[in-house]
Amino acid sequence: MPSGSIFRRLPEGGKSALTITFDGEAIEAREGDSVASALLAADRTATRTTPVSGSPRGPYCLMGICFDCLVEIDGVQNLQGCMVDVKAGMVVRSMQGARSVANSSRNDFD
Ligand code: FES
Repeated sequence: MPSGSIFRRLPEGGKSALTITFDGEAIEAREGDSVASALLAADRTATRTTPVSGSPRGPYCLMGICFDCLVEIDGVQNLQGCMVDVKAGMVVRSMQGARSVANSSRNDFD
């Protein structure tokens, strides 16, 4: 974990370490982390760019309200990283601009 993160983990016993990838880079997480909290703890504060200006955005509210934590998880775009728990081997990618409908494997209307 980079030492530059402003986020510090509380000492916890019994939480297993696991590894996810973010934009192809291995990130250490712990069982029970949300994707957003794991990324913040690893000093990955920008998880998407805005569709209009391309400005970087990252997790803010950590409770499903702001949508600034949108990421692609295991090929499914536009998921709120703060609402999804990490799993070993999970592949997370930053969202760049608008969601690609053609590449989406998730149908929100089912
Ligand atoms: S951080 Fe606000 S919705 Fe996820």
